[in-house]
Amino acid sequence: MIKKIYPLNNAAYQMPTMVYYGRDSLFLLLDIIKEKKPQNILLVTGEHFKTTKEFRYLIEKVNNLTVYKPIIKKCNFETINKLIHFCRQNSIDAIISIGGGTVIDMAKCAAAVVVNGKYVEDYLVSGTKQIAKRGLFLVAVPTTSGTGSEVTPWATVWDRIKKYSLDSKYIFPDIAIVDPCLTYSLPKNHTAEPGIDALCQAIESYWNINSNLASDKYALESIGIILKNLSRVVNNPSPESRDCMAWGSLLGGLAFSNTRTTICHAVSYPMTIHWGVPHGQAAAITLPPFIEYTFPVLSKERLLKILDAMQVKSPKEAAEKVTRLMIDTGLKTRLSELGIPKRSISLIVKEGFDPSRAKNIPKVPSPEELECLLYGIL
Ligand SMILES: [Fe+2]
Repeated sequence: MIKKIYPLNNAAYQMPTMVYYGRDSLFLLLDIIKEKKPQNILLVTGEHFKTTKEFRYLIEKVNNLTVYKPIIKKCNFETINKLIHFCRQNSIDAIISIGGGTVIDMAKCAAAVVVNGKYVEDYLVSGTKQIAKRGLFLVAVPTTSGTGSEVTPWATVWDRIKKYSLDSKYIFPDIAIVDPCLTYSLPKNHTAEPGIDALCQAIESYWNINSNLASDKYALESIGIILKNLSRVVNNPSPESRDCMAWGSLLGGLAFSNTRTTICHAVSYPMTIHWGVPHGQAAAITLPPFIEYTFPVLSKERLLKILDAMQVKSPKEAAEKVTRLMIDTGLKTRLSELGIPKRSISLIVKEGFDPSRAKNIPKVPSPEELECLLYGIL
């Protein structure tokens, strides 16, 4: 059965994206195209999807579909601008992005900039332009369970030694289709890393100072589902556990889309930039110590709710549960295992205080406290 989550727009919570979830929901694309009637559709996708029967089916059924040929490995200024140029040259009026976070983020950037003008760096580096209106019609279809990019109003752009975020309420995709069948053949690492990212995002949404009733509801449900299913889906996957992870990840996305992430994500970025640590791994490595740091600051009522969602009795038990899950799913729990030496902790502290992320928690650590916490997981 296909579940639908309708757009919601109230003072506390905004979600303009129409969301479909369920096995084979990918094929709703045909109805969406029939209804929207775009003239020139561009399919932006990864190399793996291009080998699937679903890809061949779409090509056969949709006449005005062009497949974007370049291989997408990175979402940076060069690759995004190339995609923007292609859309303008070919009068593309709708983009379907089917892939992981990189593919969806690239499509979100291109869809917005094609309509708003100039190139992506004009919105990120010089600050001379702002995304002021909705972009091309965009459908986002994730093929991993974790990034939540199909329902967030930002896109992560990496450029050499800096991480940027193209951020605007106008870049929420118009439609998100979460079809768990697309995740059934994912390898272990592409299951574990996005999966732990989803857990991290949901927990960071819950303890976030921007949380609200709707985001809390999504976050708590997401946390419970991911904790029950992630180890199973990595070590002994079944269609049912894949379905649960896709749903849990989507709910986590719906939660943090309105709160953003916090300090775990902030300190992860230097780890990814300087040591190439995959995003989910980098974000989650500080999750256990930050659980012990942040949970005790929550109100008693909020603390009890998250402990209940995690099926534990104390912040310490919650941190231990996440650490065990990381070990069970082949993820690293110590900085040294990621090749990050003691002498580099000061660099992570210096670069990890991105104010838009690091300061979203009820008790912001001082640089000394952060350093101490990082030493604890060396
Ligand atoms: Fe993340």
